[in-house]
Amino acid sequence: MGVKLGILGLGTVGTGTVQLLQDVVGRNPLLEEVEIYRVGVRSLSKSRNVELSPEIITTDLTAIVNDPAVDIIVELIGGLEPARTLILAAIKNGKHVVTANKAVISRFGEEIFTAANQAGVYVMLEAAVGGGIPVIQPLKQSLSVNRIQAVTGIINGTTNYILTRMQTEGSEFNDVLADAQKLGYAEADPTADIDGLDAADKIAILASLAFGGRINLQDVYCEGIRQVTKTDIGYAAKLGFVIKLLAIARSTNENTQLSVRVHPTLIPQSHPLASVNGVYNAILVEGEPIGQVMFFGAGAGAGPTASAVTSDILNLVATLQTQTAKTNPLLACVHQHYCQIAPISELNTRFYARFLTEDHPGVIGKLGTCFGKYGVSLESVVQTGFQGGLAEIVVVTHDVQEGDFRQALAEIQTLEAINSIPSLLRVL
Ligand code: HSE
Repeated sequence: MGVKLGILGLGTVGTGTVQLLQDVVGRNPLLEEVEIYRVGVRSLSKSRNVELSPEIITTDLTAIVNDPAVDIIVELIGGLEPARTLILAAIKNGKHVVTANKAVISRFGEEIFTAANQAGVYVMLEAAVGGGIPVIQPLKQSLSVNRIQAVTGIINGTTNYILTRMQTEGSEFNDVLADAQKLGYAEADPTADIDGLDAADKIAILASLAFGGRINLQDVYCEGIRQVTKTDIGYAAKLGFVIKLLAIARSTNENTQLSVRVHPTLIPQSHPLASVNGVYNAILVEGEPIGQVMFFGAGAGAGPTASAVTSDILNLVATLQTQTAKTNPLLACVHQHYCQIAPISELNTRFYARFLTEDHPGVIGKLGTCFGKYGVSLESVVQTGFQGGLAEIVVVTHDVQEGDFRQALAEIQTLEAINSIPSLLRVL
């Protein structure tokens, strides 16, 4: 075991992260270098969904950030304090930090990153925006050569869920909110989400990375979704729009200023963000020369957020290893074997097939019998008309093994009534 973690917090994200770290088979082998060394919790008596030996769990979080054996602090307690103080202490003690805490980063980023730079350590925050969606690393690395023009996101799942239901059901905001709270999609105190504050924290972080400067959170204009009514959503639909809570950071005034804001916005139904529904998040980045690139996925939840947290941990493990090895294990190709690729005949898929046949009685019956002989079940059959005197029959199958389907087709082709099979496509 090479790298020792001190994990602070065993809530939804902390539990997901521990579960991921304890289930490494089939994931990046670097994960085997990681040891869950200490876990800090508020209460020892709470029942947990993870198995950890009792001696690594403590309520003394300060002792974890001061423990010289710990290499990386993973801060997953959320909120402003004691998270800020613990992060700063960890940095002072020369430890790298992984955090999912957008509230701390958007408010105390200057203090935290100044301290980290002085101490020569990294503060990683992929999980702070968009849950499992990789957007921080892409902005820092893959897109870093671009001149960014705009970052536009649906980055709050709760409000997107509420607006989506208002749109599909024609319901009012208060009714959907109450139901969302009952179902656990919205917090008992939903203020941070529905008033746009959570999205404001996140767009401040994204704007800072995209435009390469600090963002004062107080300068981010913020308006939530309380005043959006079903009447507005109805009129928007008639005019070809949907209403989404957008977080926008855009270069403006000939690139001398930024406009950074969160507010409900009418967007054309054809816009790439218009079909992002339910609790999903998406972030559209526009830059030169990349053009548009969009990131989409689960913006919250134990598994997706743990994926982001653990990818940050892995990046730090690779960085620590690079100090002694010749190459960075995340950049080098270290594969030792060839992957086994399944033959196409073993593919399970639905098929669409179009047949041109004689217009005789019993042709559809013969097709069906032949398919049935090879275990191919049909989802739909339509005779759409005629082409040059031949009947046109279209079938869509249920999931079938491609090899069986091909055998059925080979036999069908020998039937006298079948003239040709001009189209054969796989259906997702
Ligand atoms: N409360 C957030 C949301 C998830 O509804 O998207 C955590 O950032």
